[in-house]
Amino acid sequence: MKIYIVLLVFSFLLNASSGKELYEKCASCHGENGDKSAMGSSKKIRGWNAVRLEKVLLGYKNGTYGFCLKNLMLEEVRYLSLEEIKDVSLYISKL
Ligand code: HEC
Repeated sequence: MKIYIVLLVFSFLLNASSGKELYEKCASCHGENGDKSAMGSSKKIRGWNAVRLEKVLLGYKNGTYGFCLKNLMLEEVRYLSLEEIKDVSLYISKL
């Protein structure tokens, strides 16, 4: 039981920071606060809600969303798990 609680707390802490850590990679193109148009091409993602972000990121991942630079975004999300996509979406929605 004890070990279970420790694991639970640990996974919570891990979770709390992972959205932020995941976004560090994205910030180089989308800006620290998501208010930059990535490579002068994307929309600004600041202010998007988590559901919209999640849908769009999944869309890039499975090829159902995107514009002329969608292959570039595919490389960014290809290796993210569904959990990571959720975490980073939640983080961006609070920027
Ligand atoms: C190398 C630069 C680069 C990086 C790094 C990058 N992006 Fe992007 N992102 C782009 C570009 C360019 C587009 C527009 C792609 C297109 O034509 O569909 C885009 C589009 C998006 C969109 C949709 C915006 C729209 O215009 O519809 C979201 C959401 C997004 N990126 C989130 C992320 C997240 C989250 C990460 C990190 C996991 C990330 N991006 C990393 C360049 C980048």
